[in-house]
Amino acid sequence: MTHLVFLGGKGGVGKTTLSCAIAYQLAVAGRRTLLVSTDPAHSVGDVLDMEIGPAPRRVVENLYAVELDLEKVALEKGKRVIEVAAKIVPPDIYEAFSKYVDAVVRGPGVDEYVLVEKTLDYANSGYDFVVFDTAPIGHTFKLLQLPDLLRRWLELLKRQRLTYVKLSRNIAKLKGETHRSDPLLDFLEATAKRIEATARILKDPNATSFFLVANPEKVVLDETIRFIERLKELGIPLKGVIMNKHREQITPRVRHMIEKISNYIVAYVSNNEDEVYGIEKIAAMGKMIGSVLQILNQSGK
Ligand SMILES: Nc1ncnc2c1ncn2[C@@H]1O[C@H](COP(=O)(O)OP(=O)(O)OP(=O)(O)O)[C@@H](O)[C@H]1O
Ligand SMILES: [Mg+2]
Repeated sequence: MTHLVFLGGKGGVGKTTLSCAIAYQLAVAGRRTLLVSTDPAHSVGDVLDMEIGPAPRRVVENLYAVELDLEKVALEKGKRVIEVAAKIVPPDIYEAFSKYVDAVVRGPGVDEYVLVEKTLDYANSGYDFVVFDTAPIGHTFKLLQLPDLLRRWLELLKRQRLTYVKLSRNIAKLKGETHRSDPLLDFLEATAKRIEATARILKDPNATSFFLVANPEKVVLDETIRFIERLKELGIPLKGVIMNKHREQITPRVRHMIEKISNYIVAYVSNNEDEVYGIEKIAAMGKMIGSVLQILNQSGK
C-alpha cells in the first residue's frame, strides 16, 4: 500500500520547500513517489522551477508531481455522479439526489471533502509514497477533522433517508409490488464507507506519516504547540516536528519554547542564505532531513 506523507504548519514556514525535498530524497532512494500540491495557491512548480499541472508530470526518475485544483475536481465529480444517476435513479428520487450532490460539490469545505475522497485513491495509487503539500495549518486541520464530521452528517442523512425508504417500501408492499433498492441510500452508505476507510488510514502510523514544520520564532512555536495538542485530540499520530530555518542566534524565550517540544523534533534544517528553489538546492537539503527519511523508510515498507 502507498504510504501517505503530510506536512502541516503555519504559513511560510517551509512546507512546500520541505515536501519537495522529502519527495526528492525518497525518489533518489529508489521509491516511486508522487508529490501532490493541494494548496489552492500552488507553489510546488515554483520551488521545483518547472511547469506542474493537473496531470502528474515526471520531475526526475521515480518522482512525479501534480497540482490539484480541488474545486474543479469536485465539480467534475459531482457532474459525473449526476450523469450516472440520471440513468439509474428513478425519476421520483432523481431530483433529491442531484440536489444533494450539487449541494455537496458547491458547499463550503468542498476542498477538504475532495481531499478526503482523493486520499483514499492515493492510498491505493501504486506509488510507494505520496507526499502532500498542503495549505497552511487551518486547511490541514479541517481535513483531519472532516472524516469525523462527515461521518456524523452522513449518519443523519442516512437515518432520514431510511425513514422515507421504509415508508415507501411499506406502501409498495400494500400495493403488492416488490421493493427496490434505494440508490440514494446506497450512495450515502458507499460514501460513509469511504470516509471510514480514510479516517482509518489517517490514524494509522503505518499508512500515514504526519509531520509539523516549525521555525525558531515565538508565534510559529505557539501555533506548533497548539497543533500538537489538537492532533492528540483527533487521535492522529505525529511522527515529528521539523525545525526549519534553524539558526544559532535565538532569544532565550524561543530557546525555552524549543526545549519544551524537543522530544518531538526529528530534524533541524538550517536557514539558507539564498532562496531555496530549483532541483539542485532542493537536493542539497537532503543531508539535513536524513532522520525524516529514516522514519519514512521504516513506516512505508
Ligand atoms: N531552510 C530554509 N532557509 C531559508 N529559506 C527557506 C528555508 N525553507 C524555506 N525557505 C523560504 O521560505 C519561504 C517560504 O517557504 P515555503 O513556500 O516552502 O513555505 P510554506 O510553508 O509552503 O508557505 P505557505 O504556507 O505560504 O504555503 C520561501 O521563500 C522559501 O524559499
Ligand atoms: Mg506552501
